[in-house]
Amino acid sequence: MSEAAQKPAQKNDRRDFLIKLGTGAGVCALGVQALASARSLMPNVSYDAPTTVKLGPPAEFPDGLKFLADERLFIFRDGNTFHAVSAVCTHLGCTVRAEALPRPETTTVAGAPLKLTHQFSCPCHGSRYAGDGTNISGPAPKPLSWYRLSVAADDGQLVVDLAAEVDRDFRLTV
Ligand code: FES
Repeated sequence: MSEAAQKPAQKNDRRDFLIKLGTGAGVCALGVQALASARSLMPNVSYDAPTTVKLGPPAEFPDGLKFLADERLFIFRDGNTFHAVSAVCTHLGCTVRAEALPRPETTTVAGAPLKLTHQFSCPCHGSRYAGDGTNISGPAPKPLSWYRLSVAADDGQLVVDLAAEVDRDFRLTV
């Protein structure tokens, strides 16, 4: 091939190379921009409420029941044992009310003895729950949740983990 014929061929090769390079750079830039946009949708910090909450020293809880409005939780105490029952109705999430039983009764729940002092009712649509949280009437589809209690290692306060549901034979003994 003559030198004159080689020059246009080299020119075309260079043009093709530059077009490919430009296209590749454009695709890379778009990819990086898409990743950056997707990342900006995810927050760097979580603003969810913590699931573990300190409730106070065990000695501050009376025998029987104490309602904690902020946590929407009932803490039951029977001597040195404690358990926590959610006050959130399993129908549509209203806060249930505790009603004292005329006479406390002891029953076996999930294989463990449990002293029942209250039952629960929901003001929204009338669901009723037994003292262990079992749904007994109304639209509530399932029992009230029970949550894990523990004692804080640093200051001895009672701690509830609202993300840790437990079986109804759970008791914390302090
Ligand atoms: S929210 Fe409790 S019965 Fe509907």
